[in-house]
Amino acid sequence: MKVEHRFGLAGRQALVIGGGSGIGRAIAVGLAEAGADVHLAGRREDVLEGACGQLRALGRSSRAFPVDATDMDALREFVGAVGVSVGLPDILVNAQGVMQLAAAEDYEPEDYDRIMDTNVKSVWFASSWFGRAMLGRGSGCIISIASLASYRGFARNGIYCMSKHGVKAMTETLASEWAARGVRVNAIAPGFFMTALNKDSMTEERKARAVARTPMGRFGDLDELAGAAIYLASPAAKYVTGVTIPVDGGFLAAGM
Ligand SMILES: NC(=O)c1ccc[n+]([C@@H]2O[C@H](COP(=O)([O-])OP(=O)(O)OC[C@H]3O[C@@H](n4cnc5c(N)ncnc54)[C@H](OP(=O)(O)O)[C@@H]3O)[C@@H](O)[C@H]2O)c1
Repeated sequence: MKVEHRFGLAGRQALVIGGGSGIGRAIAVGLAEAGADVHLAGRREDVLEGACGQLRALGRSSRAFPVDATDMDALREFVGAVGVSVGLPDILVNAQGVMQLAAAEDYEPEDYDRIMDTNVKSVWFASSWFGRAMLGRGSGCIISIASLASYRGFARNGIYCMSKHGVKAMTETLASEWAARGVRVNAIAPGFFMTALNKDSMTEERKARAVARTPMGRFGDLDELAGAAIYLASPAAKYVTGVTIPVDGGFLAAGM
């Protein structure tokens, strides 16, 4: 197989939830550059439309699907609407996520619900409902955005850490369950990338500690995440399922 086919996504349909901004948007651009049509979902329609314009400028088809993925009725309706208007995706990326830094003793139950509903429940049910249709077709690829917090405990980020451990666990579980039925399920664990999620909420001192703890000694560039997503979505990864690939400047490898 020629390398451009091995890593190419021509003719594929991708859907990126959380694709309007940050990591999801960078992955959407990467998938489009590899040849896929890429559709985007998230709560803010204007943000989605801006990102869709960027994908169309690359010559790809791209539609915006505004949805609050924590609203189970809306999410169910959205899964149906995507199927009707652009067809069942070949590639689903779950990049939706929220983070709230606080002392463990200070979180309120509504904080817990918001973080877990976004980072775990919506990822589970988007994977489950698109996955069911992919199983019916006998093919599909799901990529979720995990985190270094899928592997470690980070002080003042307890609920997020629990949620991201959940993303890694569901990736392994769904992969095991669906491997023989044509649906691959993988994840990417980014290191520190400055986005709307963290750039204002991390103090300068916390950012400095994150950089100091990262062997490459810097934050990641969003552009550096796309390659892992293209690989996982491509024919090159057809025997790969259940893995979480760190893109972290060496963070998880390092002792001190
Ligand atoms: N930045 C990092 O260093 C880092 C590291 C590891 C993992 N991650 C993970 O990477 C993913 C993307 O985060 P990011 O850093 O790129 O931050 P971001 O720009 O804030 O992206 C989060 C995306 O999730 C969407 N979203 C949030 N709640 C949603 C909901 N209820 N329904 C639908 N969409 C929703 C947001 O769009 P709307 O607001 O328009 O809904 C936004 O596009 C998250 O899962 C995050 O946990 C980030």
